[in-house]
Amino acid sequence: MTNLLSPLSSANTVRQLVESATELFEQADLFYGHGTDNAQDEAVYLVFSILEVPFDAPESAIDDPLSDQRCEQAKAIIQQRIETRQPAAYLLGEAWFCGLPFYVNENVLVPRSPFAELIYDYFEPWMTKEPKNILDIGTGSGCIAIACALQFPDAKVDAIDLSDEALEVAAKNVDRHDLTDRMRLVKSDVFASLEPKKYDLIVSNPPYVSAEDVAALPAEYHHEPVMGLEGGGDGLDIVRRILTGAKERLTDDGVLIVEVGLMQEAMDASFPNLSMTWLDFVQGGEGVFLIHAKDL
Ligand SMILES: C[S@@+](CC[C@H](N)C(=O)[O-])C[C@H]1O[C@@H](n2cnc3c(N)ncnc32)[C@H](O)[C@@H]1O
Repeated sequence: MTNLLSPLSSANTVRQLVESATELFEQADLFYGHGTDNAQDEAVYLVFSILEVPFDAPESAIDDPLSDQRCEQAKAIIQQRIETRQPAAYLLGEAWFCGLPFYVNENVLVPRSPFAELIYDYFEPWMTKEPKNILDIGTGSGCIAIACALQFPDAKVDAIDLSDEALEVAAKNVDRHDLTDRMRLVKSDVFASLEPKKYDLIVSNPPYVSAEDVAALPAEYHHEPVMGLEGGGDGLDIVRRILTGAKERLTDDGVLIVEVGLMQEAMDASFPNLSMTWLDFVQGGEGVFLIHAKDL
């Protein structure tokens, strides 16, 4: 039930709901790190998605009065966003990555990796030929693996995760994108349960936040699975294991690409002799390195 004093109480069009939600989000000092970066964009995303209004809808659709039922549905989710601090994607059960929709729940990280730009660009100029076999380590919702599979329609993609719950979500998404014939989901602790096989491209957005930094994250992040965020004491436990095992899994001209976010300095300090290339992003993002198999 909407509080009568709330700016939401009298809102009954898409525009009014967005304006009221923006005001309330600002007052509540929410954190935005899961696809938007300000109150208004978050309000637009949430209201338009709940009401299934296209983002390019005509003015009339935005200013037409809504039914009471649709209004209450939107208001309830706006209030939930404020009261629970859940990221919008969990409230909607959906997130977008690489222009593709993915089912998500609290067992997987909300997709937001700068990998999307690399995938759009076919990993050029780093990949010299189309990858035939791709491996995604720590697949979560499957977003990176699935986007790779759709971008390279002749490739076979293996996607691994240690979390059964994450693999269940990934399976739904593999099915949703009709990729069951080219994708394989494997429960594995990094490479441990993976059969010996060579890949032209290994990609990973592993957990890479230190335990101390995870504890200090805003409330929104505490709805995400700790296993998706925390990479041990200094954050680099899983990255180390990927680096150790990648050489024997890559083809001779294969490439390993790993996201480590803000850990670039820590990586350079921990691996001073490793020939890592730090990738640049036009659409924002940082902390993704690339290594050729010959340099591992
Ligand atoms: C940062 S999330 C990335 C999820 C997804 N790739 C994305 O970009 O949204 C890391 C994922 O690694 C998985 N993970 C954590 N430890 C692992 C391990 N030892 N072996 C395999 N996967 C692991 C987590 O369950 C989580 O789904």
